[in-house]
Amino acid sequence: MQADFWLQRWSAGQIGFHQSQVNQDLRQSWPLLQVAPGARVLVPLCGKSQDMGWLMGQGYHVVGAELSEAAVESYFTERGEQPHITLQGDFKVYAAPGIEIWCGDFFALTARDIGRCAAFYDRAALIALPADMRERYVQQLEALMPQACSGLLITLEYDQNLLEGPPFSVPYTWLQSVMSGSWKIKKVGGQDTLHSSPKGLKAGLERMDEHVYVLERQSR
Ligand SMILES: C[S@@+](CC[C@H](N)C(=O)[O-])C[C@H]1O[C@@H](n2cnc3c(N)ncnc32)[C@H](O)[C@@H]1O
Repeated sequence: MQADFWLQRWSAGQIGFHQSQVNQDLRQSWPLLQVAPGARVLVPLCGKSQDMGWLMGQGYHVVGAELSEAAVESYFTERGEQPHITLQGDFKVYAAPGIEIWCGDFFALTARDIGRCAAFYDRAALIALPADMRERYVQQLEALMPQACSGLLITLEYDQNLLEGPPFSVPYTWLQSVMSGSWKIKKVGGQDTLHSSPKGLKAGLERMDEHVYVLERQSR
């Protein structure tokens, strides 16, 4: 998916992926990670997710990364906050107490940019990317995160022959082949979400399974 695709989606208001409420899986499963309050938490491809506000409410410092300036500006406007904006290299960084959102290409971020993040939260980030970009995404995540870290990952799995992404189907077998060398992968939740996907129903899917995983980085 090229940058233009997403910028176009944001400018046309085609943001069906955005949830107006905090994600239930985040509320339920985040405590399993046992990340100490005060830690920095990376939220790649963050959009204007309300989940960032929830993480801040739990005492974390959120570090978001998002391509679309419209998304980042909406995030702060909708919360009635005035971010402090600075230019750092190719990024425009929006900061407010408890949060900084790096507006630019996630793949261009460096570990030095974002500081030491103890954990990451991925909802609709990995699955937003086509197959050729997903492995790059994992490599970039590994380059950004320290050796001791964990993450909460929410994926979808469905018959990709019947429906094109995004969101793309990312089966457990893919995760295992790409991530199990460096991460311990534990499934902690999931459900069939087909009923809430008009596109999936129209395409004749039989199920659209959401999976929730806790990932723990294995030290080498
Ligand atoms: C499917 S949306 C999910 C947004 C958010 N995680 C949520 O749960 O609402 C994917 C987001 O990734 C952003 N994005 C896509 N490619 C990106 C990139 N290379 N760098 C930063 N953000 C990107 C898009 O603009 C879009 O907001």
